[in-house]
Amino acid sequence: MKKSSLFSVAMSSLLAVAVLAGCGTGNPQGAGQQPAGQEPAGQAGEQKKLVMATSADFKPYEFHDLSSGKDEIVGFDVDIAKYIGKELGFEVEIVDMNFDGLVPALQAKRADFVMAGMTPTPEREKNVDFSIVYYDSKNSIVSKKDSGLTKPEQLAGKKVTVQTGSIQEGAAKELQKTLQGMEIISLNKTGEIVEEVKTGRVDAAILENTVAKGFIEANPELQFTTFEGDSKLNTAIAFPKGSPYVEDFNKVIKQMQENGEMEKLIKKWFE
Ligand code: ARG
Repeated sequence: MKKSSLFSVAMSSLLAVAVLAGCGTGNPQGAGQQPAGQEPAGQAGEQKKLVMATSADFKPYEFHDLSSGKDEIVGFDVDIAKYIGKELGFEVEIVDMNFDGLVPALQAKRADFVMAGMTPTPEREKNVDFSIVYYDSKNSIVSKKDSGLTKPEQLAGKKVTVQTGSIQEGAAKELQKTLQGMEIISLNKTGEIVEEVKTGRVDAAILENTVAKGFIEANPELQFTTFEGDSKLNTAIAFPKGSPYVEDFNKVIKQMQENGEMEKLIKKWFE
């Protein structure tokens, strides 16, 4: 793929320029300031920037890494975004927010795309466009090892935490319809929902198994059990409706799936 094909396409259309101009968040030297038709990357020392919104509480997809002494957001999604940026000729600027603010941020054009381990759902598809799927996971129950809580049907009469705005919150509400006395506590960050289980203020959390695994490794008193019967939860990139970037991103994702790059990143972050 030609490096800046994304922008030659995007910039050649006045409509796309208007879209770019609309996304101003933290975009001091990038979108909207290029005259149409000019090659954006590497000219006059300017590199095009796209704003990626995320909720960096979802290790290994995205999380704060303090190990270098500075606070950096890293992870599977970040590596994919940077690879796509390298291919299409843009720099990635990451904006961290609560998960339930991500779709509104796209709708308000405060971000160009969202990578947050996000699952495409019909509900979300009313408000945003999604890329092709690049990964999947399943739901799981996180509980104390001695609790005996491993199955969804055991959650009757129990207090359960979930992340606000997540599909796990939706799954909990579904379970609540048939499980008597199940109480749902929605919190903004996955660290908070697991902390509640640790302290015993709640009985269990519902979390994706790919993320639960890391929390359990860090907290040996906890366990997680995958909802075996359930279908897979897909992960894709979200964009504002009508975004000019979806096709180009899809091309690079396909390329990564074919050239082994995706496999390499899956190994790096999930094994
Ligand atoms: N896959 C789930 C969803 O789309 C959970 C994603 C949570 N992501 C995060 N970065 N906290 O609702």
